[in-house]
Amino acid sequence: RIQGAIFDLDGVLVDTAKYHYLAWKRLAAELGFDFTEKDNEALKGVSRMASLDLLLKAGGLTFCSEKKEELAAKKNAWYVEYLQQITEDEVLDYVTDTLTRLRRLGIGLAIGSASKNTPLILEKTKLAPYFDVIIDGNCTSKAKPDPEVFLLGAKGLGYPGEECMVFEDSEAGILAANAGGMVSIYLGTSSCADADFTISNLSEFWETDIM
Ligand code: G6P
Ligand code: MG
Repeated sequence: RIQGAIFDLDGVLVDTAKYHYLAWKRLAAELGFDFTEKDNEALKGVSRMASLDLLLKAGGLTFCSEKKEELAAKKNAWYVEYLQQITEDEVLDYVTDTLTRLRRLGIGLAIGSASKNTPLILEKTKLAPYFDVIIDGNCTSKAKPDPEVFLLGAKGLGYPGEECMVFEDSEAGILAANAGGMVSIYLGTSSCADADFTISNLSEFWETDIM
């Protein structure tokens, strides 16, 4: 039986994936190459430095680690600049309804995100009070597809991985949830072969028999 729900943040709760993409695209443009939405899929759920490595690979470029730190900081500064103007409007459809309904059913609620900007996003969108546990890029050392972030989430909720479900919009995140023994639910319009379930939005969750 499912006792806990762990939510990825970017692209699942909040529509911030587009700002990550804009910032990476801007960095690529500055480095002299084009970065498409299709290239961007592989970056979803992936940590900042690992994302930069994928971006540079797509552009056929290599830099020393000092320069890479500088580029990652530049991308993040742009991203944070975009985040300044976000509000509750950026919370995705059916999110607050779903959280409220799960809470009423007695399900523990956690966030499991790779983002170090999680506190800022939660403040801007006023989502923090919905959650019992928040695990983000500031308290993890291994990036998805490693299950660390979700295992810490499950532990914080007090349930074994098998009693938790994970909502994710990235391939890396689905693999992390599977590795943690959790029920993996992919949110997206395309399909994800590794996910236990695929839904195109959170309202569809309520039409499944997952719970
Ligand atoms: C999430 C996003 C990724 C992002 C990562 C790190 O997983 O899906 O696109 O690279 O968090 O985010 P940060 O805000 O710390 O750069
Ligand atoms: Mg995501």
